[in-house]
Amino acid sequence: DWTADAFVEMTIADLKTQLGDDHVIMALSGGVDSTVAAVLLHHAIGDKLHCFFVDHGLLRKNEFQQVLDSYEHMGLNIKGVNAKDQFYSKLAGVSDPEQKRKIIGASFIDVFDEAAKQIQAELPEGVEAKWLGQGTIYPDVIESISVNGPSATIKSHHNVGGLPDYMKLNVIEPLRTLFKDEVRRVGKTLEVDPTILGRHPFPGPGFGIRILGDVTAEKVRILQEADDIYIRNLRESGWYDKIWQAGTIFLPVQSVGVMGDERTYEHVVALRAVGSLDGMTADWIHLPYDLLAKISNEIINHVKGINRVVYDISSKPPATIEWE
Ligand code: XMP
Repeated sequence: DWTADAFVEMTIADLKTQLGDDHVIMALSGGVDSTVAAVLLHHAIGDKLHCFFVDHGLLRKNEFQQVLDSYEHMGLNIKGVNAKDQFYSKLAGVSDPEQKRKIIGASFIDVFDEAAKQIQAELPEGVEAKWLGQGTIYPDVIESISVNGPSATIKSHHNVGGLPDYMKLNVIEPLRTLFKDEVRRVGKTLEVDPTILGRHPFPGPGFGIRILGDVTAEKVRILQEADDIYIRNLRESGWYDKIWQAGTIFLPVQSVGVMGDERTYEHVVALRAVGSLDGMTADWIHLPYDLLAKISNEIINHVKGINRVVYDISSKPPATIEWE
C-alpha cells in the first residue's frame, strides 16, 4: 500500500543518490505541487537547492509577499524576483488568449534565464547547477500528452516541459508519479504550511487569462480587489475547502448602472467556483444565494470600477474552468 511516509523516505534517499553534490535550480509558483517538490529536494540536498519565485504582476492580492514569507519561514533558499513591468509591457494591447499565454510563457523563460544566470554566478568556482527542479505531477504528464499531442491544441499550458533546449538542464521531478491528493498527503507529512497545502489550483498565467481582453495594471488592481473579497468570503463561510477551485474573471464589457442619482458605466466581473477531482471535468458549485448576495454587494460597494457581478453556471465540458 502507498503511504506518504514511505514515499517521503524513499524519495529523499533516491534524490540524495541521484544528485550527490549537485546543485538544483527551481522556480516556485506558490502552488501545492512546486512547494512540496521543493521541500522534498530541500530535505535531500539542503541549500544546494536554489529557488526563486517570480512576481509577474498577475497574482492574487498580497500573494507574492505572503508566499515569499512562508517559503522563508520553511527554511527554503529562496529569492523573490519582481518582474511585473516586464510582463505588463510585453502584454500591452494583446487580447488573444493564446497569444497572451505565449507571451507570458516566453517572458517567464526570459526571467528564469536571468535568475538562473545570477544563481550560477554566485556559486563557487567550478560548481555548476545542472538540474532543474519541477513540481510536475502525474495528471500534468497526461494532460501535456493530450494537449500537445497530435490533436489540436486546446490551451497551451506553459509550465509543463517548460524550457528551451539551450538551457541544457536535466529535469528532476520528484512528484511525477503522484496524484494531487497524494501530493497533499506528502506535504502534510513534510509539515508544509497548511494554507499552501489547502490552496486552490491557480493557473501559471494567473490573472493574465482571467482578464479577458488586454491586460493593464489598472485591470489587475480591480480584479485583485474583487477576487480578494470573493475568496475571503468563501473562507469565512466555510465554503473554500469544499470547492476545488474558485476565482474571479474580469469581463471585457462595460454595463450601465446607477449609484446614488448618478448613471455609471463600469466593468463586470464573473465569479466562478467548481467542484472537480483533477480539473479534467468540473461542475459548477451551487453556492447559497445569501452568500452570493453578500459577495456581490461587497464587491460593487467597495471596488471602484465594478458595477455588476455575475455567477458562472457552466460545467466542463463543454465549458472549461478558465474562460481563456
Ligand atoms: P481549463 O480551463 O482547461 O483548466 O478547464 C483546467 C485546470 O488547469 C488550470 N490551467 C492552467 N494551469 N497553466 C497552469 O498551470 C496554465 O496555462 C493553465 N491553464 C489552465 C486551470 O486553472 C484549471 O485548474
